[in-house]
Amino acid sequence: MNPRIRIFDTTLRDGEQTPGVHFSAEDKEAIAQALEAFGVDTIEAGFPASSPGDFEAVRRVAAVVRHAGVAALARCRPADVAAAVEALRDAAHPVPHLVMSVSDVHLKHKVRMSRARAVRAIHESVMEAKRHMEEIEVSLEDATRADPVYVRQCAQVAVEAGATRINIADTVGAALPDEFAALIAGVVAFLPPSVLVSAHCHNDMGLATANTVAAVQAGADQVEVTVNGIGERAGNAAVEEVGIVLAAKGIAATGLDMTRVQKVSALVAERSGIAVQANHPVVGANAFAHSSGIHQDGILKHAANYAWITPEMVGAKGHRMVLTARSGRKAVFHVARAMGMPVAPETGEALYSAFLRHADRADGPVTPEALAGIIHRLAPKPARQTMHP
Ligand code: KIV
Ligand code: ZN
Repeated sequence: MNPRIRIFDTTLRDGEQTPGVHFSAEDKEAIAQALEAFGVDTIEAGFPASSPGDFEAVRRVAAVVRHAGVAALARCRPADVAAAVEALRDAAHPVPHLVMSVSDVHLKHKVRMSRARAVRAIHESVMEAKRHMEEIEVSLEDATRADPVYVRQCAQVAVEAGATRINIADTVGAALPDEFAALIAGVVAFLPPSVLVSAHCHNDMGLATANTVAAVQAGADQVEVTVNGIGERAGNAAVEEVGIVLAAKGIAATGLDMTRVQKVSALVAERSGIAVQANHPVVGANAFAHSSGIHQDGILKHAANYAWITPEMVGAKGHRMVLTARSGRKAVFHVARAMGMPVAPETGEALYSAFLRHADRADGPVTPEALAGIIHRLAPKPARQTMHP
């Protein structure tokens, strides 16, 4: 049996930290509802202490989400914890999410605390949050650049104070998959099985998905992701990538309905103003598009020739033929037929030559309209009627 992995979506918090992005409370509510229908287990709605607007947005998300958990970020400071607890008051399943830096570089140059002081802050903050709510997550920030023994010590203190989830963050995307897997495996082996171990990866070296999957294979119970991989700098692990890897490779079960991913991706792209790159896996415009003759021929003969994941698995419309000067006859005739303009065998070569002359001069793909124009120009003209007096 594959393990059931929990999906913690942080599009509305870490995703909103994408430079230039701001979600209104209405955006957050709409995206949270789509995420709940998508099947994520926890929705991190925001950072209530960061602004009055975000406090209100978290409150609104907490009031509308009924099945998923709703998380809110707080540093290990009394005012942050109070704001998170208050903003989550109406949530059906509230999850205050406390964060503390654990690497020496952060302790010395960011939070300016000794290791011992940071441990005390974790303990006090968790105790305070626990007075109000049962489910508490503690994130150990920059854990991949920290002393692993100290990481485990912080995790232990958090759990003793009442934390139910420990999140190991590769905050600057510094880890390789085997390094991250070793760190996660060490924490999993060290903590009681009742504590959920979570993985949070950033994409600075393009390894966020690989590291997240490695964490699952090393025993993590939860993964933290964003829709379209949006987030600080190069972003976070993308839910569409992690979700399809876990499902297609049979690594773990999740609650995600991957057939909804296109809609969720489009909604986040629209509300964030961050367009999805065309070659983005699963949700990019080219994820199921084919333009070279060899690949088009292969797809038209048998889709599995050039498709490992299928459009049906992820709710995409289907395979799409894009016509360029690299396209083959099969695809050109296929597109013509799909437009209701079947190509007779005796005219096929002339059409294909005319198509290539056009495609070689074109700046981009040859549109179906342009192909229709070529077909019209080649069609035999009806003989002129001679008028007899
Ligand atoms: O990247 C990070 O360390 C974070 C924490 C708040 C989990 O986003
Ligand atoms: Zn992060």
